[in-house]
Amino acid sequence: MSSLLNSPAAQRTLALCLALPLMVLAGPAAADGDGVWKNGENVYAKVCGHCHEKQVGPQIKGRQLPPPYITAVVRNGFRAMPAFPASFIDDNALQQVAEYISNAPAPAAQP
Ligand code: HEC
Repeated sequence: MSSLLNSPAAQRTLALCLALPLMVLAGPAAADGDGVWKNGENVYAKVCGHCHEKQVGPQIKGRQLPPPYITAVVRNGFRAMPAFPASFIDDNALQQVAEYISNAPAPAAQP
């Protein structure tokens, strides 16, 4: 019984189970000091950039993606991308980040 829980594999699994929700929760807790995102760029940097600037997700800047498409992906999730509910990103902030991404130039060419 205890030998099972003490195995390195079990401990790695346990650590992951504990760390993942904490990483997710740390985002909004840190960002909503006054309960409001500053602007679209702020949301992008604090949320989307963790994946979309790190090649976890595809590049979404510089593609003139329509804002309604972006908001739908964020609210509903899209295959490997998790959905973000209004309790995490309110409608106003979502609209702003969608317009920010839609109008943003492509990042500097990647090697
Ligand atoms: C946990 C990582 C993660 C975060 C955070 C994240 N995304 Fe994604 N996103 C992905 C992945 C992975 C995909 C690709 C899904 C697939 O094709 O399987 C994706 C796909 C997308 C797409 C579709 C792109 C296309 O080529 O059609 C859009 C739009 C998008 N994300 C917008 C956003 C926005 C806006 C945010 C911030 C509010 C955000 N994402 C945050 C991981 C993430």
